[in-house]
Amino acid sequence: MLSIEDNNLLTQTNPGTPMGDLFRRFWLPVALSREVGSFDKGPVKVNVLGEKLIAFRNRDLSIGLVDSMCPHRLANLYWGRNEGDGLRCVYHGWKFDKDGNCLEQPAESEQTCFKEHVKLRAYPAREAAGVIWAYMGPEDKQPAFPDFEFARVPENHTYSSKRLQLCNWLQNLEGELDTAHVQQLHQHEVVEGSMIALPPKYEIKDTGFGMLMIAKREGGEGTPHAGKINWRMTPYIMPAGTLIPQTPERPQHLTFAVPVDDTTMMGYTVSWRANEPMTEADMKRFEEDDILHLRVDPKTFLPLANIHNDYLIDRASQATETMTGIAGLRMQDVAVQEDMGGPIAQRHKEKLGSTDLAIVMMRRKLLTTVKGMLQGTEPPQPGNAPAFNVRSVFAEESATKSWQDVFAKAQPDGSAGALDA
Ligand code: FES
Ligand SMILES: [Fe+2]
Repeated sequence: MLSIEDNNLLTQTNPGTPMGDLFRRFWLPVALSREVGSFDKGPVKVNVLGEKLIAFRNRDLSIGLVDSMCPHRLANLYWGRNEGDGLRCVYHGWKFDKDGNCLEQPAESEQTCFKEHVKLRAYPAREAAGVIWAYMGPEDKQPAFPDFEFARVPENHTYSSKRLQLCNWLQNLEGELDTAHVQQLHQHEVVEGSMIALPPKYEIKDTGFGMLMIAKREGGEGTPHAGKINWRMTPYIMPAGTLIPQTPERPQHLTFAVPVDDTTMMGYTVSWRANEPMTEADMKRFEEDDILHLRVDPKTFLPLANIHNDYLIDRASQATETMTGIAGLRMQDVAVQEDMGGPIAQRHKEKLGSTDLAIVMMRRKLLTTVKGMLQGTEPPQPGNAPAFNVRSVFAEESATKSWQDVFAKAQPDGSAGALDA
């Protein structure tokens, strides 16, 4: 459980909040490249961390990410005209570039230099894997872009999507780290007799990117799995990302919970293959099954199955065949995460068990970091860009191998260097 004060501390991310400040130390996914489109397309709304922003593309392909409120008389720049080298407010025609500089004020005298004194709030933005990433923190603390593997592979090796989720961001992150729910909530999807159905034991390691959650399932004597260990290693990427454990022949997937405000979030999933383009089978899986990427409304990004239609639950299937009656792993996760006594779980009412260790450790790490920032200590992770070059692990290995060896074997450089805190 968490005290009410600590729960508030972790779940509130609007401007000026401690957790909001921690989020603003990192590069965050804020939109999809395909939403923003080309330079002749109008701007799009980007609501993130309680801020209302506008994204647009310039003719030189760079991305502008600016406050939605025109500094003149506060009209919404969403109605603005993208002129390829800046955005023009349609009310009185003031024009701004991607850095927030005011380029033109048609009705003001050129003599007054008024426009030099006007600035629109603007954030640095860049693209990787079809996602627009932004840094929304203090200028003097802007870190290098994290060395994610997906940022270095060709675009056709990647596939990214986002979904609107109607709950606080922390409920989603906790779900991603909670490996113990797999054999219950997703029991229909778990292969019968596989090691994943066994209860896990945990080890947790502090790392340069955040933490590594190591779940170990041991094959019992006299069973077909004797002498083997099933490893699911989930990197927790600070502040709100996880890599879903995957076997080497499958794509890797980063999931990232980005607060829209305190009661809604945008869930990003970035999938990538290191050495080859996505296959047709990969794409079919991403676009048709609600396993990793969800089918969503193209405008609102609300999943087609959602809380308003009971996630299209099939009670007959639930009675006879599946645990949930809800189709798709990711959809099942969303259904349980969106209503945990409401959109913000009251964690002082919880009764945590031994399998909640990863969640407890993640919360502790965030609380220590946020409280440290309040005392003037900066988090080290944003400054450690190379550590973010990490993959998840899903492997069955002989019980004689250490977890460090199993981890290293799965990494891009075959080493355990990403573990260094
Ligand atoms: S409100 Fe934008 S130019 Fe006047
Ligand atoms: Fe799940």
